[in-house]
Amino acid sequence: MGQPSWSLGKDEVHLWTISLARSEVELARLRELLTAEEYARACCYRPRQARDQFIASRGLLRLVLAGYLAIDPARVRFRTEQTSKPYLAGGGPHFNVSHSGEIGLIAVTNWGEIGVDVERVRAMPTHLDMAQRYFAPGEVQALTRLPPGAREQAFFHIWTRKEAFVKAIGVGLAHGLERFEVSVPPDDPARLLHIDGDRAKAETWSMTSFEPAAGYVGALAVQTHGLKIVPRQFEE
Ligand SMILES: CC(C)(COP(=O)(O)OP(=O)(O)OC[C@H]1O[C@@H](n2cnc3c(N)ncnc32)[C@H](O)[C@@H]1OP(=O)(O)O)[C@@H](O)C(=O)NCCC(=O)NCCS
Repeated sequence: MGQPSWSLGKDEVHLWTISLARSEVELARLRELLTAEEYARACCYRPRQARDQFIASRGLLRLVLAGYLAIDPARVRFRTEQTSKPYLAGGGPHFNVSHSGEIGLIAVTNWGEIGVDVERVRAMPTHLDMAQRYFAPGEVQALTRLPPGAREQAFFHIWTRKEAFVKAIGVGLAHGLERFEVSVPPDDPARLLHIDGDRAKAETWSMTSFEPAAGYVGALAVQTHGLKIVPRQFEE
C-alpha cells in the first residue's frame, strides 16, 4: 500500500482523533518511526503506560503529518521552541497535539498557530479547590453556580478551553491561567471572554468544545473566525 496523502484546504482545520490503546505489535511498529532521541524520551516515562502513550502518540503524529508532507513518516522532522511547542522543521502546516488516557487529538491547519487539548473526564473531588487556585474569578463563580452534579464535566470543559488557548499561543501553563477567562458550559458556547481584561482582543479568537469519545472532552483554539473543522479518524 502506498503512502496515504491528505489535502488541507486553506480555511480548514483537520481534527484527528487517534486511539492510543495499541497492541504490543502495533507499538513495536510505531516505535520504529521514532528517532533515537524520541525513543530515549519515551523510556524516561514512568509508569510504562505513559511510555506507551508517548510512543503511540508520537508515532501516529508522524504518520498523520507525513500524509500532508508526502514523505516517509520516519523522515518527518520537528523543531521545538524554547517553550517546548513543537513545529515542523522545514515548513508545513501548523499542528498541535494533546493526549489523555487512551485518546489523542491532533489539530492541523495551514492558517497559523493552533492549540488543542483533551482530558478524560474523571472523578475530581478537589475540582473546586483546583478552580479557585487556577481559574479566573468569573469562571469560579460560574462553576459554583452550577448544580453539584454538573460541575466536574464543566470543570474539564473550562480546563480544556484554557489549555487550548495557552497551547495556541505556545506559552503553555507558564501563562497564568487566571489572566484570561473562558465561557462556562453547559449554557455558554465555547469562547474566550477576555485576556488580561481586554475583551476586544479575546474576540479575535475562536474556541470550540467537543466530546471526541465517550468520557472525554476536548477544545480547540485559534486566533481567527470561520475556519471549517473537519473531523478525521486515522485508519491503518
Ligand atoms: C504544554 C502543556 C500545556 C501540555 O499540557 P498537558 O495537558 O500535560 O499535555 P497535552 O497532552 O495536552 O499536550 C502535550 C503536547 O503538547 C505539545 N506541547 C508541548 N509544549 C507546548 C507548548 N508550550 N505549547 C503548545 N503545545 C505544546 C507537545 O506536542 C506535547 O506532546 P508530547 O508530550 O507528545 O511531545 C504543558 O506541558 C506546559 O505548560 N508545558 C510547559 C511549557 C514550557 O516548558 N515552558 C517553558 C518556559 S516558558
